[in-house]
Amino acid sequence: MKYIKFSNGDEMPMIGLGTAGIPIDQSYDVVREAIKIGYRHFDCSPIYKNEAEVGRALNEAIKDGEVTREELWITSKLWNSDHRYNDVEPACEKSLEAMGLDYFDLYLIHWPVAVERGIEWAQNEEEHLAEEEAPLEDTWTGMEDCLAEGTTKHIGVSNFNINKLKLILEECMDPPEVNQCEWHPYLPQQTLYDFCKSNKIKMTAYAPLGSPGRPDEYRSATDPDLLAEPAITDIANKHGMTPAQALLAYGLTRKMAVIPRSTNTGRLQDNFDAQDLKLDREDLRSLIVLSKFRYFKGEEHTSNGSPYKLTDIWEY
Ligand SMILES: NC(=O)c1ccc[n+]([C@@H]2O[C@H](COP(=O)([O-])OP(=O)(O)OC[C@H]3O[C@@H](n4cnc5c(N)ncnc54)[C@H](OP(=O)(O)O)[C@@H]3O)[C@@H](O)[C@H]2O)c1
Repeated sequence: MKYIKFSNGDEMPMIGLGTAGIPIDQSYDVVREAIKIGYRHFDCSPIYKNEAEVGRALNEAIKDGEVTREELWITSKLWNSDHRYNDVEPACEKSLEAMGLDYFDLYLIHWPVAVERGIEWAQNEEEHLAEEEAPLEDTWTGMEDCLAEGTTKHIGVSNFNINKLKLILEECMDPPEVNQCEWHPYLPQQTLYDFCKSNKIKMTAYAPLGSPGRPDEYRSATDPDLLAEPAITDIANKHGMTPAQALLAYGLTRKMAVIPRSTNTGRLQDNFDAQDLKLDREDLRSLIVLSKFRYFKGEEHTSNGSPYKLTDIWEY
């Protein structure tokens, strides 16, 4: 197993299982299967709607002696409705309770945007919260409280650009240790990558396969298919890997943790095995020049009367 090491010596397995989009009725079986294959890192969120099933699978695997809690790395995230300082710790505790856990290994602010309490996706102006109503610095203080209380061992962010990272870094007592972002050869985000590296912020790549199973609302007919990208299939053919393995091996070579989602036993195994595969310099060079594309544009956070703009969220 390959790991990313934190300053306190804790180690996050570099290949994890993404749990977004795993149907509720398959979540238990997929997680049990993943543990049998060797997965120890699970990426979760209350917005994925399967916390109870994922948690039950993890706990039963522990009870059956397949794995210990200490061997697992469980990440969860703070949803946009819980950004007010007083809401952060209760939200973390609610997710722990839903999953039947005592602590998370990593707790992330899911998005740098806020909505009203109890809202999942804001439908109108009233359901959004402007940044002044729930400042990210206050949300971060709540995250630091979670760390101090031991409900999570590490804290971080997701979908944060350099400006938002700087805001937290300037104000914080405990810096973010991870930034989880969409990352793959169409979206290498070199400036953000370099900033995170120089500030000792580790990165996790979501949608590392280009999210071919993403919901229709995130899809248009002209979207490129990353798994069919000729530069990727050439590397896969050259080394006798699958395109997915080439993409995951690329992430690992760049020291990213990768969290592909699969509900298929063979693909779970293929993805896990990618950590033993290597790309060479020629492969890496061939991926630098690819055209750029973002699959998760974040428009759901900047529409319906939202005070947020896409230019506030991403580096352009
Ligand atoms: N922080 C955030 O805002 C955020 C946003 C998006 C995602 N995430 C996290 O990142 C995880 C991964 O992202 P994602 O699920 O959108 O995208 P992804 O992992 O890039 O792609 C998943 C899709 O790829 C297919 N797949 C998996 N392995 C494959 C293989 N070896 N060959 C061919 N196809 C394969 C899966 O289908 P099968 O199931 O049929 O194999 C599924 O449809 C999520 O589950 C979630 O935990 C976080």
